Amino acid sequence: MDSTQATAQETGCNRKTVLVGVTGCIAAYKSAEIVRGLQKAGVRVKVVMTEHACEFVGPTTFRALTREPVAVKLFDEPGDPIHHISLAQEADAMLIAPCTANVLAKLACGIADDLLTTTALALTSPMIIAPAMNVHMYENAATRKNMGVLHTRGVHFVEAADGYLACGDTGKGRLADVDAIVAETLKVLGIGCDLAGRHVLVTAGPTVEAIDPVRYISNHSSGKTGYAIAAAAARRGAEVTLVSGPTALEAPFGVHVVDVRTACDMLAAAEEAFKICDVAVFAAAVSDMRPKNPADRKLKKGEADEALSSIELVENPDVLATLAAAKTSQVVVGFAAETNDVLENAQAKLARKHADMIVANDVSGELGFGTEENKVWLVGADEVEDVPRLAKTEIADIVLDRAVRLLED
Ligand code: CTP
Repeated sequence: MDSTQATAQETGCNRKTVLVGVTGCIAAYKSAEIVRGLQKAGVRVKVVMTEHACEFVGPTTFRALTREPVAVKLFDEPGDPIHHISLAQEADAMLIAPCTANVLAKLACGIADDLLTTTALALTSPMIIAPAMNVHMYENAATRKNMGVLHTRGVHFVEAADGYLACGDTGKGRLADVDAIVAETLKVLGIGCDLAGRHVLVTAGPTVEAIDPVRYISNHSSGKTGYAIAAAAARRGAEVTLVSGPTALEAPFGVHVVDVRTACDMLAAAEEAFKICDVAVFAAAVSDMRPKNPADRKLKKGEADEALSSIELVENPDVLATLAAAKTSQVVVGFAAETNDVLENAQAKLARKHADMIVANDVSGELGFGTEENKVWLVGADEVEDVPRLAKTEIADIVLDRAVRLLED
């Protein structure tokens, strides 16, 4: 048997094979990053291109990245007379990214006039399509209809994004984020989906408590850790609700974001999601206090000096402690940002807030607020895991690994 005819099972170690189809679009260069993203997740990638795609990026790029032959024409593979069938058979999924309006139309009609479309027609495994084109082509009734037809047939879509397009127009049509395309493909393959069917609640970012319409009490939280946890949970198959104070971060792909400003709003927004969640991660830096009587007009110097120099504060609700006090089977993860006695303080918070785990970090040095990396300890009732300094995105997966273990206990 020709090596290209090995089935997915025969490629060993249950390693999945994704056939990436590249079509003729300026975004074709991004397919190289998609290939790398899939490979990083342990996926074997093969590439098939249309002739038009080769005008934008060469097969040599993909041959070097995948260490596999890259096919373009129907009769490219002399040793394999029915190449389109063997390519389709060995794929656990086919991802077409970017997919042009023309190829979408051909797929919707079942036209098979080159290797890519012929292989797509012979495919029996799932197909994922990430379209990219001009906004007017994307919004054209013909394109919308073709997408609808394919969607009804079970094709998974990673919708194009809004933004500045290569043609100079602005609107929907940009190839979706590479991470989003890789995440959707992995999800379809069921890779790393240990949170599939689970609900995860994450709180993140700072809260903002008004003194008057101009001034407020807040803190330095960037929200990066909470957002990284929400993104990782979604990638691992969970349905995620992210209750977020104001941050400069983009909503993670596949996450339901609820924007809030104050601690009271955060508690109200988290309450419903907490009731149905399996894992709740409280990563927000909630202001402990809020002004008792926020002014509805700006407090002016000279006129309101007394009010400005002594702002009366009242205690905010503790979102984590309030919700965890009524927990049933949820795994509850809290955070502790400390400047001293880190582990002792974290142990005390674990007990006081009814948490199952506290992610403790030391914010007295260079790490913590706004940094890309952090150094944390995972403090549980019986053990403390010392996690080395890592990117917050890597810490997110380690926290979730531990939460998954607690779920299974
Ligand atoms: N937390 C919360 N609501 C609050 C205060 C804290 O949900 N009003 C949560 C945080 O999201 C975090 C944990 O409680 O998961 C610990 O937050 P932290 O600010 O470190 O602790 P505090 O309870 O505020 O205690 P202290 O300021 O004394 O360290």
